[in-house]
Amino acid sequence: MKVIIKKDYLELSKVAANIVRDEIIRKPNAVLGLPTGSTPLGMYRELIRMHKEEGLDLSGATTFNLDEYYGISYDNEQSYHYYMHQNFFDHVNIKPVNINIPDVIDDDIDRECEEYDNRIRKSGGIDLMILGIGHNGHIGFNEPGEEMETRTHITDLTKETIEANARFFENYDMVPKKAVTMGFGGIMTARKILLLANGEGKAEIIGKLLGSSKISTRIPASFLHIHSNVIVAVSEDAAKGLR
Ligand code: PGA
Repeated sequence: MKVIIKKDYLELSKVAANIVRDEIIRKPNAVLGLPTGSTPLGMYRELIRMHKEEGLDLSGATTFNLDEYYGISYDNEQSYHYYMHQNFFDHVNIKPVNINIPDVIDDDIDRECEEYDNRIRKSGGIDLMILGIGHNGHIGFNEPGEEMETRTHITDLTKETIEANARFFENYDMVPKKAVTMGFGGIMTARKILLLANGEGKAEIIGKLLGSSKISTRIPASFLHIHSNVIVAVSEDAAKGLR
């Protein structure tokens, strides 16, 4: 894994946006895998700035989001559909037909999951997958456990993840307990992966991830060690656990 350490969140966001911009310039019809959460917000802001001020053209790009809560309506401000439109899609020129987010309203969720993987395959595969990481090492909603599902699937969220998400909801009962997430099969087929981590809260997991080359379902992100083209970009405070 190649590691990039940046002074602070702003610098981290800029380097992430630069990597996305370079990919789009290299391949205007690139397929991007996109995350939600607090970490990529600065990157999305910088990409919007590049689009508005520097003419970054995203009209050829296709996007696949990593995950979505199950049983949430898309006009709920906490849904990832809402997040993506609010924080990115509504401000750039990605064509709506090229935007893909797991459809959790679908009656037949298993069929939708299968269809999502088919759509990724038909698009030619993901060129650049951008990821955040959970405190527990989850990627998307691939949570630590005994086993890991490789395909897009519906999953129960761990207590730790529900608690981490609770800050965004009025009360604990309103936090979704299930989600649909891309599996590691889909993530690992990406030609290039960019993992972002910001803040001291991520120092321990980044220390664990980069401190060992072993893989374990207890740290889902460790599977990225198998991939040959991964960049881990972190802020200085998230790098505190590194020797
Ligand atoms: P965060 O979430 O960016 O809000 O820290 C990352 C994640 O849980 O994958």
